[in-house]
This record gives sequence, structure tokens and C-alpha cells, in this order.
Amino acid sequence: MNDFNYIGNKLHCESVPVDSIAAKVRTPFYLYSTETLTRHFKAFDSAFSLPHITCFAVKSCSNIAILRLFARLGGGADIVSGGELFRVLKAGMDPKKIVYSGVGKTEDELRFALGAKILLFNVESIQELETLQGVAAEMGIKAPVSFRVNPDVDPKTHAYISTGLAKNKFGIPIEQALEVYQQAEEMANIDTLGVSCHIGSQLTDLSPFVESLNKIKGFIRKLEGDGIAISYLDLGGGLGIRYDDEEPPHPSAYADAIMKEMGEFDCTLILEPGRVIVGNAGILVTKVLYTKTGEKKFIIVDAGMNDLARPSLYGAFHSIQPVERRDQGTEIVDVVGPICETGDFLSKGRELPICERGNLLGVMSAGAYGFTMSSNYNSRPRVCEILVNDDSFHVIRKRETYDQLIAGESIPDFLKK
Ligand SMILES: Cc1ncc(COP(=O)(O)O)c(C=O)c1O
Repeated sequence: MNDFNYIGNKLHCESVPVDSIAAKVRTPFYLYSTETLTRHFKAFDSAFSLPHITCFAVKSCSNIAILRLFARLGGGADIVSGGELFRVLKAGMDPKKIVYSGVGKTEDELRFALGAKILLFNVESIQELETLQGVAAEMGIKAPVSFRVNPDVDPKTHAYISTGLAKNKFGIPIEQALEVYQQAEEMANIDTLGVSCHIGSQLTDLSPFVESLNKIKGFIRKLEGDGIAISYLDLGGGLGIRYDDEEPPHPSAYADAIMKEMGEFDCTLILEPGRVIVGNAGILVTKVLYTKTGEKKFIIVDAGMNDLARPSLYGAFHSIQPVERRDQGTEIVDVVGPICETGDFLSKGRELPICERGNLLGVMSAGAYGFTMSSNYNSRPRVCEILVNDDSFHVIRKRETYDQLIAGESIPDFLKK
């Protein structure tokens, strides 16, 4: 359920007509609903009745206003870079609810996060562990560590967002993990506190989650047998959403399946949901610039693959809806952007209401991995982000300017002559 609905013929976000926002901020723009964000966060978080922390996956949607909202709702953060750490601290998140994932943390990033006193580092390799030990020793402190274990489970999702298979770059292979924990136990500046895993994104079936939890449970028993006690079990994110006709489990079914398996374990659970909270809480609003007909009919809009990469990158489906419905009939069209790439499309061969120049379209379910994956490709300023709260809207990120596009660039002296 989300708060993007037609009232009369006009698409609204909560009680604000989308066209009234477009008239003020121009297009394209990302538009989020506070009500949907809040409801989705609470539905997920309250589904777990065991001790847990919901660490929102910042990579999915990283605007500091949205992070502040989740912090207010009691959430934490799963970060994957120093930049994300900077954001979550600015947003006022409690460092003791921050976990740091990712295969390639630099020494500087490790130092920054150690200084911020985050809850856990999800370490993904021996070399990362050794580097963390070195940095923590230099700082005279202990690093709280959880190892990301790769359980070799097929998440049955798109290959680019599968992370829990042995052939993926993520985590430590489960059969090598015990040795790594033993090594960590010997390190003076490492405090081994947890086990983590994340097998992939946009999962629409619960069985891979359960299979991976079972493997991890078996591994935790081995650790216990070796005298290594675990306080945190981080199950990552990955719960899918409906973009088209998928039927993903409700967060309560996901939570029930996990809690049932948790049984005898009394560690604090950490969850890292991203898409399931923000995916359907945001849309991308774009305007039809031109239409043209040849072998195909093209609707050329002002948002491109630099603004929303998912269709080009994964062949992902996003429903496209008119911001104003009229009795205009339908036709089969490709909706494409202004980027100089044939791969620049938002949808292909889709039956849509007939569009004319100037019409506004809502690219739905764009709240996750939408703005955060956007770029300046073709020197296009990144779009603005708007947050609706009931009957008001707020610019939570300004549209970039041309000056900002070249702000870090300079012409060296030898080219000035
Ligand atoms: C380590 C980790 N945690 C959590 C997530 C969030 O996944 P999702 O948005 O599918 O919930 C990701 C995304 O790939 C991830 O890599």
C-alpha cells in the first residue's frame, strides 16, 4: 500500500496533487511520501517481537531528511561507505545502531567509523580484518566485529543483485569462516561480537532466507562449540516488493519465518531492509518532451537512465502512470530518455495512455535505488528530491545547477596560455 493515488483524475501524493509540485519545482524530480515511509518502516520494525535493530540500508535511499525520519522512528543504518556514514551522522542517527557492510572499506573509512564508535563492522575478508586490527591498534581501541559469512544460497533473484552464492564477491565462504573467527579471537584490538549475511535483493520467496538462516545457525553452533559466543545475528536485507505482478511476502510473514527459526538463539537480531521500506514510497515524475513515430512509437521524456538506472541496468520494470488521467485511449510505446545511448529507456513495448508533449508521467516504485544510483552522465544535473507530508511538500534536495556540475574541475596553467 502506498500514498500515490488518484483523486478525481489527478495523481496525488498524500493530499498534494503531483502536477502542483511539478509547476513549482519543474521536472524531473523524485517524490516521496512521509506517510508511506513511516508506515512501511513501522510495519517492518514492529513485525519482529524479538530484540532487534532495524538498520535501514542507506544505499537504497540516502537523503538525510529520510534518514532523520527513520532515526526518529527508532531505526539505525546499514552503511557501505564513509560517505554514507557522514550522511547518517548528519541525519542524527545513533552510532550504536550503525553497522558497516561492504567488501572494500578503505583504511580512512575504517578510521572514520572507529572514531564514530559504530555498533559493528561487517568484515568481509581476512585482509580487511588485518587492516581493521592495524587501524584500531593505532587508535588504541577495540573494533567491534561481525563477519559477513557467505552461505552459498541461491536467492532466486536477478544475477546482479545476488550476493549469497559462492561465486559472488561478498562475504567469507562459510567453510572458511571458523578459521577466520579463530584468527580474530587472537587479535588484541578486535572484539568478535556477531555473524552477518546478506544473500541478495528483491527476493520474493521466503525459502532462501530460511535456508541461509539455517546454515548460519549451524555455523553459530560450531562457533559456540569452539568457545566463541555471538551477541548479534545480522540477516541483511533483501525482502522484495511489487513492481509489476510479483507477490512478495508481507514483512510480517518474513518476520514470522525468521522468528520461528530463531527459536533457541538469544542474540540481538539485526535487519538491513532497504527496498521494502522505500521502494514504493517514492516515484520519479517526468515530462513528455516529444513523441515520434517510425518503426516504433517513442515517447521522449525529460528523465533518463542517469536519473533512474534500473530499467537500463537490470531490465527492471517500473509502472508508468499519467499524472492526469484523460479519456485518451492507449498505444504501445517505448518511453525513452534524452541520453545518447540506445540503452536509455524507462519502459519498452508497453501499452500506455496516449501521450502528448507536456504531459506528466509518474514512474512508480522508484524510491529505492532510484536517486541514489543517479549520475551526471551527459552532464545532466541531478534532479531534486521532494518529500510530501500530508498537505505540504518540502524540497529535501535542490536540483543541481550547471555551476555545481563543474564545481570541482579546473583548467591547469599549461592550458590557460
Ligand atoms: C549488505 C546489504 N544489506 C542490505 C541491503 C539492502 O537490500 P534490500 O534493499 O534488498 O533490502 C543490501 C543491498 O544490496 C546489502 O548489500
